[in-house]
Amino acid sequence: MLIRRELPSDVPAIDAVHRGAFETSLEADLVKALRADEGWLPALSLVAEDAGSVVGHVVCTRAHVDAAPALGLGPLGVLPAEQRRGVGAALMHAVLAAADALDEPVVVLLGHKDYYPRFGFAPAQAQGILPPEPAWGDHFQARPLTAHTPSLRGQFAYATPFTKL
Ligand SMILES: CC(C)(COP(=O)(O)OP(=O)(O)OC[C@H]1O[C@@H](n2cnc3c(N)ncnc32)[C@H](O)[C@@H]1OP(=O)(O)O)[C@@H](O)C(=O)NCCC(=O)NCCS
Repeated sequence: MLIRRELPSDVPAIDAVHRGAFETSLEADLVKALRADEGWLPALSLVAEDAGSVVGHVVCTRAHVDAAPALGLGPLGVLPAEQRRGVGAALMHAVLAAADALDEPVVVLLGHKDYYPRFGFAPAQAQGILPPEPAWGDHFQARPLTAHTPSLRGQFAYATPFTKL
């Protein structure tokens, strides 16, 4: 399996990954809207390729904590037939390392409480990062990176397409 950056020719396969991984087309449509948004960061849209086929995808886009730049992670999807063999973990480790290398201070997401702590995520509110929706509770998680400082606190805002879901 290879983890590499998204190429223009991967766009249809990435769409198929999210349509397969999720019950509705919401996440696939979100990726399309993000790709057209100013918050899209090409260096942080990664695919997992196995035997020449794209089997998984993850993306981080520009977000903010108050006025400070931050990253929002998602969607993350793996084709159902390829799940539970480490593809999701490989994508997560790769995108976090890439974000760290870019001196991004934090990666924030809304996701499973049982899946993301293994990658260093912990409830964001306890780190002073407030969710767009208070009801998100501990599903709203943050992973500080090397450039993080304790002053990075405040209201989190995703790239605009997330707010139109
Ligand atoms: C979540 C997802 C990305 C994980 O990818 P993956 O390649 O299956 O994950 P890995 O192989 O790296 O890790 C598998 C482990 O993740 C955990 N895991 C997978 N899906 C999980 C879920 N929905 N909730 C909690 N833990 C989960 C399990 O502990 C599993 O270990 P096990 O096989 O020993 O039970 C993938 O299952 C997926 O695309 N799911 C549908 C879409 C989705 O829910 N995306 C995430 C939105 S928050």
